[in-house]
Formats: sequence, structure tokens, C-alpha cells
Amino acid sequence: MSSKGLKERIDAAVEAVRGRTSLQPEVGITLGTGLGGLVEEMEIDCRIPYAEIPGFPHPRVMSHEGTLILGALAGRPAAVLEGRYHVYEGYTLEEITLPVRVLSALGVTLAIFSNAAGGLNPQFERGDIMLVTDHINLMGINPLIGPNDDRLGPRFPDMSQPYHRETTARLEELALELGIRTRRGVYAALTGPSLETPAEYRFLRLIGADAVGMSTVPEVIVAVHCGLRAIGLSCITDLCLPDALEPVKIQEILRVAAEAEPKMRRLVTALVRTL
Ligand code: HPA
Repeated sequence: MSSKGLKERIDAAVEAVRGRTSLQPEVGITLGTGLGGLVEEMEIDCRIPYAEIPGFPHPRVMSHEGTLILGALAGRPAAVLEGRYHVYEGYTLEEITLPVRVLSALGVTLAIFSNAAGGLNPQFERGDIMLVTDHINLMGINPLIGPNDDRLGPRFPDMSQPYHRETTARLEELALELGIRTRRGVYAALTGPSLETPAEYRFLRLIGADAVGMSTVPEVIVAVHCGLRAIGLSCITDLCLPDALEPVKIQEILRVAAEAEPKMRRLVTALVRTL
């Protein structure tokens, strides 16, 4: 597909959203697995199922339909993507990242991404929140491959600071005030869906990763391409220590994410309040 087509697809999606609400979101939040509770903090203006937004791919494997929610969070206009697309579901990176481009076109300047991740740093504990300081893209693919539309962003976007440093530091200060322990670390992204082998976990740790997951990195690359400030929060749902590895139970990952979710929700709400 040509990049001209991409701009047209963004515009069509923006038009559909504008037809439903006049709210101009400043902050965009992509909610990860089991981390959807933030929506309860919002004064909702409208909910738009992804199926009603042109260009948003129809769910193939996604167990539930995604929804774009617009409203106020801590008094600030916000857009929340409840449900994200993953590479392992068979979507292209362009499909996966279109929602980020749409949020940017709607006026968002700060993009917040949450995810559930496996902990590689031996100091981490289950349920910890890791503020993402950097990432390693091991998906073997990049969402910006293909012709570049200069109206959307530069051909070679700088990645010297993919996660906005001051905003991440502010998040850390707010966490201290709220009594929420946070970690900092590097997030490595693989496509999945198979989980990693012990040798892969050892490799990931050796190359400097603190957590591993199957999302976020394509979206952050596109957020940077769009000129957004991006920040990432990982909920450490399981420990991936190669010499003490236990089989991962997806139910357990969901349980830990649900347990840690209120911390994530309080932190993000506190951050948005300071904007
Ligand atoms: N790998 C290992 N553990 C995880 C992951 C992953 O991609 N996501 C959440 N926990």
C-alpha cells in the first residue's frame, strides 16, 4: 500500500471520530493486557468501537472488540485505545500503528503506552511497574518500512530519546508521592506468540533488556515518527529468569496484571492531572 494511502486512511478515521465528538484529546493512552481499568476514572464523552472507524482493522483473533474512548481524565481531554492489535494476531505493523497516527492527527501530543511484560532483571518482582526508558526492537520488522510520507514524519526519525525523559521523571516523582514503587528499564519486543526459551531470556538479559513483551515498540516508533512525546509503563507479570524458569500460565499473567492495575491507573491519572 502506498504512503499516500496511509495519509488518506488516517484522514478518514479522523473524520469518523470528529463526526462523533468535538473533544480534542491532548493525551492518548493505549491500554495493555489486563490494564483497562483506567477507563473507570474517565468522564466519557463517547465510545467508538474500532469496527466503526474506517481503516481500523477488523479483529481477526482479538478476543473482544477494541474501543476508542474519548472523554476527560483528571479534567484533561483524553483518548484511550482499549484493546490493541498485535503482530502475533497477523496484523501488519501499519495496521497495528494506525491508531497512534489517528490519535496524533486528532491533536494528541503525549502518548502513554502500557503493557504486560515478563521481567528479566533479577531485582524485579511480580506486579512491579517498570517505567520504560528505552527499547530493543527484536520483531525483525519496522513499522516505517516502505515509502515515507514526509507529511507524516521524517524518513529517518531520530531515536535518541524514544521515551520522553522529563515526563518519565515526573511519573517517577508522582509514584514516590503516591507510595508506588516503580522500576526503570529497557523493554525488548518480540513478535510472539510463543513465549521465549531459557536461552532466549539469557540472551535478552545479556543484551541489556529488563523486560520482554510482544507490543508497544511498533507503536512507540510511530509515535516518535509523528513527533509525539511517548512514555511506556510495563506491568511485570512474570519472572523470566533462565535458571529458575517456571512455565508461564496466561491466567496467572492476567491475575497479576489485574492486581497491579490500580497502581497503573493511579499513576497515569496523577500524571495527566499535572499536564
Ligand atoms: N514473554 C514473557 N513473559 C511475558 C510476556 C512475554 O512476551 N508478556 C507478559 N509476560
